[in-house]
Amino acid sequence: MGLRSVIKGVGGYLPQNVVTNADLEKRVDTSDEWVFQRTGIKQRHIAAENETTSMMATKAALDALSHAKMDINQIDAIIVATTTPDRTFPATAVHVQAALGMAHGFAFDVQAVCSGFVYALSVADGMIRSGQVKNILVLGAEKMSSILDWDDRTTCVLFADGAGGVILSGEESDGGILSTHLHSNGEFKDMLYTDGGASTTASTGVIKMQGRDVFKYAVTYLAEVVDEVLTHHNLQPEALDWLVPHQANIRIIEATAKKLEMSMDKVVTTVQDHGNTSAASIPLALNTAVKDGRIKRGDLILTEAMGGGFTWGAALIRY
Ligand code: UT7
Repeated sequence: MGLRSVIKGVGGYLPQNVVTNADLEKRVDTSDEWVFQRTGIKQRHIAAENETTSMMATKAALDALSHAKMDINQIDAIIVATTTPDRTFPATAVHVQAALGMAHGFAFDVQAVCSGFVYALSVADGMIRSGQVKNILVLGAEKMSSILDWDDRTTCVLFADGAGGVILSGEESDGGILSTHLHSNGEFKDMLYTDGGASTTASTGVIKMQGRDVFKYAVTYLAEVVDEVLTHHNLQPEALDWLVPHQANIRIIEATAKKLEMSMDKVVTTVQDHGNTSAASIPLALNTAVKDGRIKRGDLILTEAMGGGFTWGAALIRY
């Protein structure tokens, strides 16, 4: 037993507008067959033009509060992992704080692209274990549709919008977040990036990706980091109840599952319905599997992600 960050509730929000691969066929030279075979994606949710990242994050936060049966007054801090903030500043997290009517505590963003939620979990866990806060709302929220080049078939079929999150509470427990493992290597900063930014073009730019290389490194680094988690805890893969991976590509997910010798029925996949929602993908997958009853209290969950930077990481959680 010790002071641990226990997940008290999970939440998610997906925009109403569903865009299928067939819809994208009308826009770029692609096919449902290509997108599904190469990525596993069938459809994705795309935010309305006036729907911002903080609006989606706020809806996910309310869902998580309701699941945890908690009130915003009990929350000490909000962390939002996002790459697509409402504004360059202030942080999306303070927009969420305002929308939730919270005038106490503090709120800030974490930016690690697709690994953002794992990074945010790690930051929140550190704050809880040090006794700085008791209850934290940790959100991943993205409007990737607003940084896509909708004429670039190599990226516009992949990314999508949504938000998810968890409420972590500091409790004496032998469960909760057992460990987090973060990595980055800036040598790869030009393999997946936006061609703009506040201090360069004074605009956001759009996503550019060397897909094949990103794929190759994702498989390698994710295999390494899941090994690191197992070794750290002296665990065999059979001890895991669930893999909740970042949802970028079903073939990357299958490669990690294979490495862990896990059958795909112990892997939560939402990529077919959600596409790649970057920092929102893990909490959305977690929300899906908790709410449909697959993930139960006491289950051991391994979650992992890899994205632009490159950044990658994993967390081992006893739900
Ligand atoms: O979440 C952050 C991390 N991001 C990722 O994890 C993404 C990692 N990468 C991937 O998931 C895959 O590399 C992609 C799905 C992006 C691409 O799959 P691939 O099997 O690596 O395909 P490729 O890039 O090697 O392209 C194969 C062919 C190319 O044509 P040629 O050069 O062989 O004639 C592409 O031009 O497929 C073509 N292509 C398309 N065709 C139809 C690329 N995009 C499309 C498309 N529709 N949308």
